[in-house]
Amino acid sequence: MTAAITVTGVEKTYASGFRALKGVDLEIRRGEIFALLGPNGAGKTTLISIVCGIVKATAGRVLVEGHDTVSAARITRSLIGLVPQELTTDAFETVLATVSFSRGLFGKAPDPAHVERVLRELSLWEKRDTQIIALSGGMKRRVLIAKALSHEPQILFLDEPTAGVDVELRRDMWAMVRRLKAQGVTIILTTHYIQEAEEMADRVGVINGGEIVLVENKAELMRKLGRKTLILTLEEPLPAVPDRLVRDGLALSADGTELAHSYDAKADRTGITTLLADLAASGVRVKDLRTEQSSLEEIFVNLVRTAAP
Ligand SMILES: Nc1ncnc2c1ncn2[C@@H]1O[C@H](COP(=O)(O)OP(=O)(O)O)[C@@H](O)[C@H]1O
Ligand SMILES: [Mg+2]
Repeated sequence: MTAAITVTGVEKTYASGFRALKGVDLEIRRGEIFALLGPNGAGKTTLISIVCGIVKATAGRVLVEGHDTVSAARITRSLIGLVPQELTTDAFETVLATVSFSRGLFGKAPDPAHVERVLRELSLWEKRDTQIIALSGGMKRRVLIAKALSHEPQILFLDEPTAGVDVELRRDMWAMVRRLKAQGVTIILTTHYIQEAEEMADRVGVINGGEIVLVENKAELMRKLGRKTLILTLEEPLPAVPDRLVRDGLALSADGTELAHSYDAKADRTGITTLLADLAASGVRVKDLRTEQSSLEEIFVNLVRTAAP
């Protein structure tokens, strides 16, 4: 079995009657970094909260390393670390006490060396005797991360980890995520920043309106995005594409003033040289040219737009 998490037919209708998840099926592979991408209100936090056992699903089931999150909640919770979206911390405890206590909550024997390592890595060691209440927002967030790592989870959830954090914390966080991945930890992060998904993830899932609308390898997604379009503005409009120029991926605009040539930017042969030679041979004069590239952003926006009710 290679799935770290299997979500099957998960529905969530809140007490208000709002249907936040509409039959979600999702498999997270062991050891991967999975980015769950979606606009505000898409259902990211709801889905994560169900997997972590904080929110009860209305229907469906979730398995974590083969264990049911309802009937084997104690096991599944101990396998998971969650860095929540909201800052929630015990104000008067010290950093060290909070993180050590958190480890104990998951039934793990004390391990001061592990706790020290985590605190050092998050630049919290110097602050270990400081009360949480006296920390800055960024430092509080670091404490949340330390708490999530205190019991050495096999699966780590980061809910909007970089929303509103400074550059330094962001950098430390990504370094930590890469190191954890190298140790075999499965990482799921939610974000509404496409760039973050692009940078970090092995696979990307897009959620919108409580439904998963796409799950794809990032490399595959990037390959699809590798298509570019060369747009040639003509000196004189053409009534039709001249015979000599007809080929796959070439289109004439409705007003005849632009030729668009779509090509794979990463391919050995883009067809541009031949096209330009054929243009010259056909006596078609080009006034200007530009290239356009579709981005993950565009694909995302289109997906979200077409999927909206
Ligand atoms: N406790 C709740 N009661 C009612 N509606 C909720 C509750 N929590 C979240 N929602 C609604 O469910 C939808 C999904 O919320 P959430 O999972 O937080 O989305 P995301 O994390 O993607 O921004 C939103 O429309 C939100 O207003
Ligand atoms: Mg959220």
